[in-house]
Amino acid sequence: MDAILKTEDLKMTYRVGKVDVNALRGVNLSVAPGEFVSIMGPSGCGKSTLLHILGALLKPSAGRVIIDGEELAAMSDASRTDLRRRKIGFVFQRFNLFPTLTAEGNLKLAEHIHGNGRSAVDENTRREILQLLRLENKMRHKPLELSGGEQQRVAIARAIINRPAIILADEPTGNLDTENSTIVLDMLRKLNRELNQTVVMITHNPEAAAIASRTIEMRDGMIVKER
Ligand SMILES: Nc1ncnc2c1ncn2[C@@H]1O[C@H](COP(=O)(O)OP(=O)(O)OP(=O)(O)O)[C@@H](O)[C@H]1O
Ligand SMILES: [Mg+2]
Repeated sequence: MDAILKTEDLKMTYRVGKVDVNALRGVNLSVAPGEFVSIMGPSGCGKSTLLHILGALLKPSAGRVIIDGEELAAMSDASRTDLRRRKIGFVFQRFNLFPTLTAEGNLKLAEHIHGNGRSAVDENTRREILQLLRLENKMRHKPLELSGGEQQRVAIARAIINRPAIILADEPTGNLDTENSTIVLDMLRKLNRELNQTVVMITHNPEAAAIASRTIEMRDGMIVKER
């Protein structure tokens, strides 16, 4: 099957003062629809850089990125933003929920941004997702009135509510205790198995990597191993 996410000889150089940092040095990656790929590797090896480029948050210095059939290089900033809203759901290590909005408000905001001011999410989809994430009773809580695990589940709900083609997660269990990590990983696995959701997840946690269908190891800006 055609890849839903593909990079060819991807390179990223950050300029810090007068020094160049080669964060990615030729990454070739192909992710099939419905795959669950985990990315591992030591701190600073380029994992987040790669994920941000895959999610059209960051422009590479060289190489190609193709997201669900659309080539990024030729796009304007506006089209890239639009592509991101239509196709990608992000989950970050620090949840990034809006603190003044309730869980429901955070979800609605994502729906409206995605739908250019209107929500296109039907009630059944919404209920299914909230049930899967065991969040039905938490919708009126603000982030500070939720546990870390619940906040991360809201963040996952927000990432998937618009049924993006791809979920990109950057250490989604990095700030969670064992129990909440297990819940969040279970959810991601369920989404992948039951809804055939494509997931690419960065993790330092071998338990997290174990639920993936494929694990990629990075070193110094390159993929060095796959298993
Ligand atoms: N905005 C930036 N400006 C300059 N250099 C950066 C920037 N972001 C990352 N880097 C550098 O690029 C390299 C890769 O960083 P990246 O954040 O992708 O690593 P990582 O694998 O996600 O690490 P970690 O496991 O610690 O999150 C590092 O050397 C880092 O210092
Ligand atoms: Mg990182």
